Amino acid sequence: MHCTKKIADDLIWVGANDRRLAMFEGVYHVPGGVSYNSYLLTDEKTVLFDTVDKAVRQRFIENLTEALNGRTLDYLVVQHMEPDHSAALIELAGRYPGMTIVCNAKTLGFIKQFHDADIDSRVHIVKEGDTLNTGRHVLRFFMAPMVHWPEVMVTYDSTDKILFSADAFGCFGALNGALFADEVDFAKDYMDEARRYYSNIVGKYGTQAKALLEKASALEINMICPLHGFVWRKELQSILSKYIQWSNYAPEENGVMIAYASVYGNTENAAEILACRLRGKGIKTVMFDVSVTPASEIVASAFRWSHLVFASTTYNAGIFVTMEALIHDLISHNIQNRTVAVIENGSWAATSGGLIRDKLKACKNISFIDNMLSIKSSLKKEQLTEIDLIADALIASFPPLFQNAQGNRPNGSAVLNTIDSNTMFKLSYGLFVLSAKDGGKDNGCIINTVMQITEKPLRITVAVNKTNLTHDMVIKTGEFNLSVLTESVPFSTFERFGFVSGRDADKFEGYGDHARTANGAQYLPEHINAVISAKVTGVHDCGTHSLFVADVTQAFSLSDEPSATYQYYFDNIKPKPQLPKGAAKGFVCKICAYVYEGNALPEDYICPLCKHGAEDFEPV
Ligand code: FEO
Repeated sequence: MHCTKKIADDLIWVGANDRRLAMFEGVYHVPGGVSYNSYLLTDEKTVLFDTVDKAVRQRFIENLTEALNGRTLDYLVVQHMEPDHSAALIELAGRYPGMTIVCNAKTLGFIKQFHDADIDSRVHIVKEGDTLNTGRHVLRFFMAPMVHWPEVMVTYDSTDKILFSADAFGCFGALNGALFADEVDFAKDYMDEARRYYSNIVGKYGTQAKALLEKASALEINMICPLHGFVWRKELQSILSKYIQWSNYAPEENGVMIAYASVYGNTENAAEILACRLRGKGIKTVMFDVSVTPASEIVASAFRWSHLVFASTTYNAGIFVTMEALIHDLISHNIQNRTVAVIENGSWAATSGGLIRDKLKACKNISFIDNMLSIKSSLKKEQLTEIDLIADALIASFPPLFQNAQGNRPNGSAVLNTIDSNTMFKLSYGLFVLSAKDGGKDNGCIINTVMQITEKPLRITVAVNKTNLTHDMVIKTGEFNLSVLTESVPFSTFERFGFVSGRDADKFEGYGDHARTANGAQYLPEHINAVISAKVTGVHDCGTHSLFVADVTQAFSLSDEPSATYQYYFDNIKPKPQLPKGAAKGFVCKICAYVYEGNALPEDYICPLCKHGAEDFEPV
């Protein structure tokens, strides 16, 4: 019996799930199963995007037949020729003699490699940017080589603004009755599997994944339909921002992943003690026994965490076999931009530590902790100091942490249980334009959270809302400028940089091109007293915002005019709210001064200007 899912009026999911597969591609365990997605567009012409794996062929044929509802299949778009998406290709060509196979030239070569069928007369070859009109829809094709095979292409439905993304944005795990990412708790239940999928399947090809993201950034996308996992129709930014981090090999979180290989438990013991030392100093740690945990999980974890520790016994005068396989895997997947510490063990000739370091030198931008602990059979008491030194060196390489202050807490539950968000306005905030440059695009946004953390090196933190285009540009380029706004700044600057999106407007329009720093990004030519350029050294995920830790690369003052504070903005810059003539009652947004007319403000109201919620409105 068919089991299809309607995605839009004329788009139907006709894929299937497999929960019996032990090893995806023969190497990646999939305890939660896997979905093979296929999508049927029922326009004036019918169009199928890819097929499925042979394991679920029968269900797929039932689904497709039902979704076609007696119609024939006009086009099969082959975005990815890997057999888990093309097992039914030849069968469909036989079932639907009028069906045209839409693919690129490389795909055609692969079809002929896998099959002996004579299909040349059935094929319509497309190139980058070519379009296919199917009636109401216009499909545009973009090449995405090496995401994950060289022939991969993606399709953009420019009518409904849907990206059929092939392997990109895919995820391990069967769909279990859902289809959309917003139907499940994706962050909690599936993000780990999305990371494991990306890092192991596409991880090696960060440059190529970035090229695809670049193409996607020029498109208005309402929905993403990948070949595995969930369809994205809401909060696309949450998966896009992960892809930006992963493809840049940027750690998602500050913390230490410790992977150890231990025959009799003594190497494990040293790793455990190091983990305890780090935890004791407030550092997040995760640990894996590489002989037990599947390598794909450890590779995914290495993509997540900023610091990696490898602890291995020596075996046959080399690295222990499971650790050697892991190191090989990590190098193959192009791991880079990490800080690494090493522990070795050897009862008579310890070599594993030096060999691990030598191998990892092949990776880009790996910083090694100088101290390497070498154990002879088992850790001795006097070596605890060496573990402390490694822990201290690891900690010293982290961006400074905010520790929870102890003591000085007010007494009384009434005080402790109350959170008045207005209390935050008592903090002294400055106001800044954060700007970045990505290729030919300049953009900027208003922020109020810049803080100097250390003097040597001169290091700052900046919190930026993830919905801002500037956020994505900083993630991608790793560099930004801060223009420090002064008290003379007019409200129009906040309208320009705070109330419109850089996706819709050129925020620097009319400023000319003379105000740039060495990193190439613009700064404001007026109403500022200083400019700071910085390079990102770490990113901390804070839910709605990313906290960037960055080293200052350039800084200069322009005037002695006082900086505008948040309080000054409220008292002197933000227009006083006024009800329009004739309006009896209204509510004003405390952030941007937008006035809502009406007797009652809906609970779920969102300010159309600055996107803050009803909690930031007050009666006029
Ligand atoms: Fe699911 Fe690269 O194929």
